[in-house]
Amino acid sequence: MSAAALFWIPVAVRLALVGSAGLAGWYVWNLTIGLAIALFVLTLMVLTQLGYMFQLSQWLDNPEEVRLSDGWGSWTEIFAKLYKLRREEQKNRNELVEWLARFRQAMQQLPDGVVIMDDVLSLEWCNATAEAQLGLSMQKDKGMRVTNLIRSPSFIDYIILGRYDEPLSLALGERKLIVRLIPFEKHRQILVTHDVTEVERLEQMRRDFIANASHELRTPLTVINGFLEIAVAEPDLDAGTRRQHLQLMAEQGQRMQRLVEDMLTLTRLESVDFPPREEVVDMRQLLEQVKAEGEALSAGRHEITLSIDGPDLKGSQDELRSAISNLVSNAVRYTPPGGRVQIVWREDGDLCRCDVIDSGIGIRQEHIARLTERFYRVDKSRSRETKGTGLGLAIVKHVLMRHQAQLNIESEVGKGSCFSLQFPRSATLLRAA
Ligand SMILES: Nc1ncnc2c1ncn2[C@@H]1O[C@H](COP(=O)(O)OP(=O)(O)O)[C@@H](O)[C@H]1O
Ligand SMILES: [Mg+2]
Repeated sequence: MSAAALFWIPVAVRLALVGSAGLAGWYVWNLTIGLAIALFVLTLMVLTQLGYMFQLSQWLDNPEEVRLSDGWGSWTEIFAKLYKLRREEQKNRNELVEWLARFRQAMQQLPDGVVIMDDVLSLEWCNATAEAQLGLSMQKDKGMRVTNLIRSPSFIDYIILGRYDEPLSLALGERKLIVRLIPFEKHRQILVTHDVTEVERLEQMRRDFIANASHELRTPLTVINGFLEIAVAEPDLDAGTRRQHLQLMAEQGQRMQRLVEDMLTLTRLESVDFPPREEVVDMRQLLEQVKAEGEALSAGRHEITLSIDGPDLKGSQDELRSAISNLVSNAVRYTPPGGRVQIVWREDGDLCRCDVIDSGIGIRQEHIARLTERFYRVDKSRSRETKGTGLGLAIVKHVLMRHQAQLNIESEVGKGSCFSLQFPRSATLLRAA
């Protein structure tokens, strides 16, 4: 049956019932009473309909609070359909709200900053990364013009010039950002920011390293070339002078070799594809060897002592030897003759530490934090005279990082220094009984 029939047939039945009630009245009493009965029933029916219409109008005004009754006749169905519509709409709205929340959360998690602005650049929304990177605050700045909030001339130029297909590199305080404006929809734009501070810092370090390394290599090369030029220009130089020149050239050659070797060591230590070897390091053997090297370097000018009261280590024997022997050779080289160098390996609470203590020239406080930088030296000429490359402590730092260990430096000018390698328990082995 069609929907119209379903609607009209009950209506017709009801009207017929009203008609028959009227006819029955006429038949029993008279026409007037019959008409009165029919009119009365019709009026009741109209009033009921009006009552439901009132309910419906109330409900439409306030669907949350007002409840629709079950209704009568066609109203039952109309009310049921309205309820269903509303339930569906509510479901859709809930889904939308949930989706929006999830989308915002995803935007919050982005490592890049996202700012949404309208066509006059008023802030509509931004994520936490953008707040941190650009110094915005969603609470305070919403609706404000972004060009008033980010007061960098280059940013304002970028916005005004409108060449948005190219990103802008923006310096904000300590931060370096790559910023890009993307127009979307008709009246909105997105600003995306990417923090490149760390990348820039690494890039700067790399540039500095190359500049320093070239400079370090150029000095001995200049000396060697100078003597070679003399040798070419003056073939009849006396044997003594020649030998002296060759001697100096050899020294410079060795210096270059030490530099290149240290640079290669550093590169190797820094590469991720080359994890430290996991072997058992016999600390007694290693420290005795390092002490012997120190004694050879000192040639009897220092008193070198060794005390061992700690466990063996897990790690790379070669790397650890190179780190500790670097510290011992520094101690010898920066301690005037007659001084003392102590090497102590011991347990200390949660740690095991290897202290290299000297009674040497010491280091002023402001230098200490920078000593592990590549090519950083307190006194360049002393470092060079004593065959230093300026890379020793950088190598020590890298070796320790690879062994989850730390370097601690204490020093007092004129009294001496203590360089301490501190290993966590997890790097040590139980001592064989
Ligand atoms: N035991 C020490 N006493 C005083 N100064 C030290 C000591 N060890 C290191 N230094 C300072 O730290 C600088 C960096 O050390 P390092 O990286 O080993 O380079 P270098 O090749 O000059 O020894 C040295 O040039 C020196 O100025
Ligand atoms: Mg050194």
